[in-house]
Amino acid sequence: MYINRLAILCNDPVFSEKSQALAARLAVPLYDKVDKFTPEDFFLTYRDDCLKLIDKELLKKGGLMVDIQPRQGEQRSWPAPKEGALAQAIGRKTKTVIDATTGWAQDSLHIFRMGYDVRCIERSAIMLELLGDAFRRLEQLDWVKRLDLSAPILMRGNAIELLTQLTDKPDCIYLDPMFPAKRKKSALPKKSMLILRDLLGDDMDKQALFDAAMQATAKKVVVKSPSYAEPLGGKPAQSFKSKLLRYDVYIK
Ligand SMILES: C[S@@+](CC[C@H](N)C(=O)[O-])C[C@H]1O[C@@H](n2cnc3c(N)ncnc32)[C@H](O)[C@@H]1O
Repeated sequence: MYINRLAILCNDPVFSEKSQALAARLAVPLYDKVDKFTPEDFFLTYRDDCLKLIDKELLKKGGLMVDIQPRQGEQRSWPAPKEGALAQAIGRKTKTVIDATTGWAQDSLHIFRMGYDVRCIERSAIMLELLGDAFRRLEQLDWVKRLDLSAPILMRGNAIELLTQLTDKPDCIYLDPMFPAKRKKSALPKKSMLILRDLLGDDMDKQALFDAAMQATAKKVVVKSPSYAEPLGGKPAQSFKSKLLRYDVYIK
């Protein structure tokens, strides 16, 4: 839980109303300055027209926001070519995808850019704020406006419950829960993922999430996991590997 660990920082009066509303929504303190003696470890702050998450180490730096730009080397067209292990796992016949563990949305946005119809589920109130801000920014991008696209629908809550309430089953449910880290070089070395792990901890209910996803999908479930982890649903029908990761595919 983030209570006692998170506060809102507003050091620009332009954002004071938005910051007050955010502090009220999350029921956390609002400060106009913070330093190493501030009791909380993490701060949400509006900077450069976007919402950012900073920890005490990053106070002087830019902070982390949900990155909506295409990954390096990804073609700037829409739909982007369906290439790589993730695209192979999701498959060419798939049209609709639910990402049930959206996090920083890097996978959701990659899937969106490949032209799939994506819905996103997230349960962390902090991530939901960052995602809401990111999807607002996404809809302002020239190419998104030109193509008259809407940002993925963001569903708030525990996917284990939300997936049982779906009225239209997606072709594919995508899962990337937090696995316990290994000391050695692992698949989650990025600062953004380290912060997420520190804030939210491992997803201890991932087995129940997998079971709910298998029930709720029309065709398949794809699970991303570090290469050292045991497959979440037993032996997968197919497995696609990239450097430190694996995408395990389970067919309904
Ligand atoms: C490892 S991160 C996902 C990273 C993401 N694939 C990306 O590209 O940024 C896992 C995220 O899934 C969310 N999550 C895990 N289990 C969930 C559940 N049962 N319902 C909703 N969200 C869940 C966590 O809150 C966390 O933000």
